[in-house]
Amino acid sequence: MQSLKTRLTTGTLLVIFYLTLLPFVLHGFGMVWTGMSQGESYLFVPDASVGNAAMIVHIIAGTLLVALVPLQLLKPIRLRFTRFHRTLGASLVALALVTALAGMTYIPLRGTIGGPVMSVAFFLYGLCLFTSALMVARMALSGDRAGHWAWGLRLFWLALGSWLYRVHYTLWYLLTGGLGSQPDFLGPFDLVQNFAFFVPYLLAVQIWIARRGAAHQGHLVA
Ligand code: HEM
Repeated sequence: MQSLKTRLTTGTLLVIFYLTLLPFVLHGFGMVWTGMSQGESYLFVPDASVGNAAMIVHIIAGTLLVALVPLQLLKPIRLRFTRFHRTLGASLVALALVTALAGMTYIPLRGTIGGPVMSVAFFLYGLCLFTSALMVARMALSGDRAGHWAWGLRLFWLALGSWLYRVHYTLWYLLTGGLGSQPDFLGPFDLVQNFAFFVPYLLAVQIWIARRGAAHQGHLVA
């Protein structure tokens, strides 16, 4: 049973997360509407149906993914509602695969607003998300609990990547007024951001996993 303090902290974090996610979700749905009604946006090009459809599918799947993924880590749900955990897990894997595949279809067709560096970085991000989703499913099916936990953590932080990208930009603009960021996304801050919303988080997860593994080994030896 979780302590009241843990439950309050988790609840507060969830409220903050969903409040900051709301504008992003509204923007995403706005973009989907623009794409479906053939409105004007640099993301949609007249008579280029594959790229347009890929972006619409990408935004729908990605938005659902980022909105649902925090629920998968909530311990009380995981322990008490096993079937819900499995169903949500399978849905998250499917959403991650679709989000990544649609994004990786769009990039070679249209590129990105930030040019080649952003295209390479986002394609790499898509590959990481795709691989993590496959590995989470594989570990769950083979009953490898440690592997499932490690890949689940990677998938969690990658699924939040798109939100983290916006959070980084928002905080940076609030703190510095946008120092090193340009409208063409070629400023030094933009170039670093192309990778900074997922690579450092993956490294931190890797260190966390290694330390937990070492602690577990020590526990077995002692
Ligand atoms: C994880 C959840 C994700 C969500 C919620 C999400 C959401 C979005 C949204 C709302 C847009 C439209 C941006 C705009 O209006 O300017 C977008 C664009 C884009 N996304 Fe994602 N995305 C996610 C993951 C990914 C992944 C994994 C990739 C890599 C394959 C990716 C690649 C792209 C690309 C290339 C664009 C167009 C960038 C541009 O030129 O402006 N996204 N995404």
